[in-house]
Amino acid sequence: MKATITATAKYLPKRVLSNFDLEKMVDTSDEWIRTRTGIKTRRLVSEGQASADMATEVAKILLERSNTDKNEIDLIIIATVTPDTMFPSTAARVQHKLDAQNCWGFDLSGACTGFLYALETGAKFIESGKYKKVMIIGVDTMSSIIDYTDRNTCVLFGDGAGGVLLEPSKNNNGIIDSILGIDGAGGDSLILPGGGSLHPASADTIKKKMHYVYQDGKTVFKFAVKGMADISSDILKRNNFTGDDVKLFIPHQANKRIIDATAKRCNIPDEHVLINIDKYGNTTAATIPIGMDEAVSDGTIKDGDLVLTASFGAGFTWGSMLIRWGK
Ligand code: UT7
Repeated sequence: MKATITATAKYLPKRVLSNFDLEKMVDTSDEWIRTRTGIKTRRLVSEGQASADMATEVAKILLERSNTDKNEIDLIIIATVTPDTMFPSTAARVQHKLDAQNCWGFDLSGACTGFLYALETGAKFIESGKYKKVMIIGVDTMSSIIDYTDRNTCVLFGDGAGGVLLEPSKNNNGIIDSILGIDGAGGDSLILPGGGSLHPASADTIKKKMHYVYQDGKTVFKFAVKGMADISSDILKRNNFTGDDVKLFIPHQANKRIIDATAKRCNIPDEHVLINIDKYGNTTAATIPIGMDEAVSDGTIKDGDLVLTASFGAGFTWGSMLIRWGK
């Protein structure tokens, strides 16, 4: 039995932060950001809005679009590195906001690869035969952990949420294959150093700005370019597909140059590559489901299409998946 995506949804907060706004905040330029990353604008939450709020908006749309009652949901998996609180989980908050009475759930920390880790996990629950309706939501409120005086990071990230409903396929569609990996040797290159059990929050960790994202961009870039290209071409090869078979490549949106290099390596033409980094920046666990929902909503992906996704992120973590779209 295959697990397949039967509904998609996204939520982007209203507030827009443009490159021109950032020019007034740090020593940067629209030209540098556009040419080095592909980003023009990103969205930010409003005062008091957090990850569970965005994820709940996504969950409500998923229920509506799939004509599903809240009490039919078996499991909620939330991929995030910016939970509202360390505990209770964001999944518990989403369950409560939905008032879904027959489910359980948990948060999953896989950074930018979080959504693909969660999709693989959710698919296994469906394939077990025990669970019929699993919600997978990728959400991140990156603005809550970004230092808006650090030009190395503040231009890159945005807030947002996206998700899918996973169900057993009726026509043998769905997730065909996945390659997932992790290597903690890359840990210090992209990290939120403070506030955990290693460096509990204190006046000192705050003073040292350890509650903000630190990234050694060059190192991550080098690994991401090779990593994403390797797993994307490997998963195509081992399933006897070529880039020509891919209707849409939905990559994690961290840098347009990384996406272009991966697409080139797999011989996927530009018109079959989803790019929305210009509008939303890097929303971490949310980029891929936001992309899926855009592509379904505008008719780019239809039933029967082959979809390739790939991601690379903190950990390091990485993943690629091949999906035959349809119920
Ligand atoms: O999603 C999780 C995974 N993350 C990624 O995949 C991100 C991977 N890394 C990247 O996308 C890129 O490395 C960045 C976009 C972060 C940086 O681009 P780069 O081409 O690697 O730039 P760089 O770090 O080599 O910096 C080049 C120069 C430096 O100045 P010097 O040392 O040459 O004088 C930086 O200080 O650009 C400077 N710089 C900036 N200049 C204007 C760094 N950030 C900015 C900025 N505006 N915002």
